[in-house]
Amino acid sequence: MDQDYNQAKVERLYNTYPFPPDPLSDDLPPGYNWRWNWQAAHNFALGEKPKQNNIRILDAGCGTGVSTEYLIYLNPTAEVVAIDLSEKALAIAQQRSERSGVLKGRSPKVTFQHIKIEQADKLEGEFNLINCVGVLHHLPDPIAGIKSLAAKLAPGGLLHVFVYADLGRWEIQLMQKAIKLLQKEKEDYQAGVSIGRDIFASLPENNRLLKREKERWALENHWDQSFADMYVHPLEFDYSIKTLFELIDSANLEFLGFSNPQYWQLERLLGKSPQLMELSENLSLKERYQLIELLDPDITHYEFFLGRPPLSRTDWSDDLVLKNAVAEVHPCLYGWPEQSFLDYEYQPVSLSDAQYNFMRSCDGRTPIAEILGELNLDNVRSLQDRQLIMLSKAHQESD
Ligand SMILES: C[S@@+](CC[C@H](N)C(=O)[O-])C[C@H]1O[C@@H](n2cnc3c(N)ncnc32)[C@H](O)[C@@H]1O
Repeated sequence: MDQDYNQAKVERLYNTYPFPPDPLSDDLPPGYNWRWNWQAAHNFALGEKPKQNNIRILDAGCGTGVSTEYLIYLNPTAEVVAIDLSEKALAIAQQRSERSGVLKGRSPKVTFQHIKIEQADKLEGEFNLINCVGVLHHLPDPIAGIKSLAAKLAPGGLLHVFVYADLGRWEIQLMQKAIKLLQKEKEDYQAGVSIGRDIFASLPENNRLLKREKERWALENHWDQSFADMYVHPLEFDYSIKTLFELIDSANLEFLGFSNPQYWQLERLLGKSPQLMELSENLSLKERYQLIELLDPDITHYEFFLGRPPLSRTDWSDDLVLKNAVAEVHPCLYGWPEQSFLDYEYQPVSLSDAQYNFMRSCDGRTPIAEILGELNLDNVRSLQDRQLIMLSKAHQESD
């Protein structure tokens, strides 16, 4: 009963302030987010391009459909289902995709459905990729939510999750509490936004809450929808590594790694001290993650992939296997086929002539041994680690 009541508040918030507020456009989405490209996500999480491309994707808690539009656009052969608790957000999501043109030729392979994550069992069939960004932490029972999604994941499928982290949201939490204290009508979200804006306008310049807002959030928070999502939300769980892994473990899926791996490199924090790095080798993976977030508490969210077994991460350490494999250029590169371009994370890359010639020869058919040119196999492994190419094992009769 209590849970239904809390969920009704969440529904009311997103019907008042559908999120994200990005305006609709008549153009196809610009660029990419590799996490929403099935091939790129699979190559990252499991080390190999997926064999299957006729897949089904679920955008769970699609909001106003910015992610849905990319999922449709970046996966042209996929069937895409988008669900949300808020009818208002869902209607905008559908409009967004209709207007931009990504739906051309896709119907009925794309549907928008007013279904809650907790009721995902109502959806037909299983999904190869489930995207659930910014949603589970707003459920009355996030564990019930992740279990519900896990049950809809096909064997070998990937679940991409984004949830809030506690440590870097300290100022946000204080502001949320301050607004609530001053608010007469707790569920009047518009009044909450107005009080929040007045507080920021009044705080002294050197105030910690105001400084954080200005440095980190002000750009997106000029939209009331974002401001409300951040400061007047009726239901939010913020995780630590400990509680995050309780959530993950409850799903009974395999953890395949964070999708922002740069943050999780201990070397960037303790790399100057070989002694500390050696001590850290005794830690379990979770303890290592814990150490990283303790030393760099700016973290505001966790994003990661889970997978449904059977899964195997392809191992390219065997030279013969790699020589017989085939390669393709990564689908998320901005500026390719120039020799200098932006990588999957929009970071600049300048290839050497040898790397460039190799990548130009990656046609998805010719064995790597025949196109190596001046590169060695370790160079190829490095291109794959940097997500510049995708590898596939040589076709076997049993595949
Ligand atoms: C912060 S928005 C995120 C939207 C979108 N995923 C994105 O990242 O742009 C959260 C969305 O989750 C939806 N939501 C909350 N609880 C839900 C539930 N139990 N089932 C389905 N959607 C839910 C809300 O209506 C809202 O549209």
